[in-house]
Amino acid sequence: MTIAEKYRSIVILSGAGISAESGIRTFRDTGGLWEDHAIEEVATYEAYLSNPAKVLDFYNQRRRAMRAGVQPNAAHVALAAFEDRFDGNFCLVTQNVDDLHERAGSRHLFHMHGELDKVRCQKCLEVFASGEDLTPQSICPWCMAQGQLRPHIVWFGEMPHFMDEIEQALSSCDLFISIGTSGNVYPAAGFVQTARRNGAHTVELNLEPSLNETLFAEGIYGPATEIVPRYFGIDGIGSAEC
Ligand code: OAD
Repeated sequence: MTIAEKYRSIVILSGAGISAESGIRTFRDTGGLWEDHAIEEVATYEAYLSNPAKVLDFYNQRRRAMRAGVQPNAAHVALAAFEDRFDGNFCLVTQNVDDLHERAGSRHLFHMHGELDKVRCQKCLEVFASGEDLTPQSICPWCMAQGQLRPHIVWFGEMPHFMDEIEQALSSCDLFISIGTSGNVYPAAGFVQTARRNGAHTVELNLEPSLNETLFAEGIYGPATEIVPRYFGIDGIGSAEC
């Protein structure tokens, strides 16, 4: 039986590992982003308050890196192709702030940690797409306030987005798959337990066993561009030119 025949409601959690082969750095692997930057200096609200220029520049650089010729890879493309042909419920939750899932064609997608190419005004709360670098002097185009724009990114200590929708999907899925995440950051790292409690089959697809390895019923290890297309029966698709 294929995955599409066996399951009716699928939730997928993706992390930095799925974008690694597209050239986007992960956080905790050798050479990962947190090797060069202290979380408490660039990824908390307190850091933004004490040194906004440094924090904004960190995300300006990441936004530029995402734009620098980066393309969705075979794993992103396989998930979008599977969603396209699957007639059950399909929900993709990503911790990634890049736009590679949507560029590959994924539709039912929740960016729980925010999006690099969106900005939020702390004064009027407007969230809008922006490719511009932010500085502490940036002016909100909606309310004209100066110095109130921040990346639409969930920092440590802040509530992830779409938690109600995600909890609902987890409570009714019969297959939960975690792809390319180390299992260090909650609440995402706890999704496997919620899915298990509700009777779902649980699978980890990762380069190597994650911190949560023992919580999954099944683990398949290797590069995402190989194991994801194979798992979903979507072999023979290369990276997308989007
Ligand atoms: P991590 O950097 O913690 O973990 C990446 C995982 O991907 C590791 O388990 C690697 O083994 C795996 N990996 C690396 N290359 C891979 C490949 N080619 N194919 C498959 N797997 C591969 O990244 P996340 O778990 O996504 O949050 O990190 C979670 C959160 O921590 C991020 O969303 C971010 C970060 O701090 C915030 O900034 C709030």
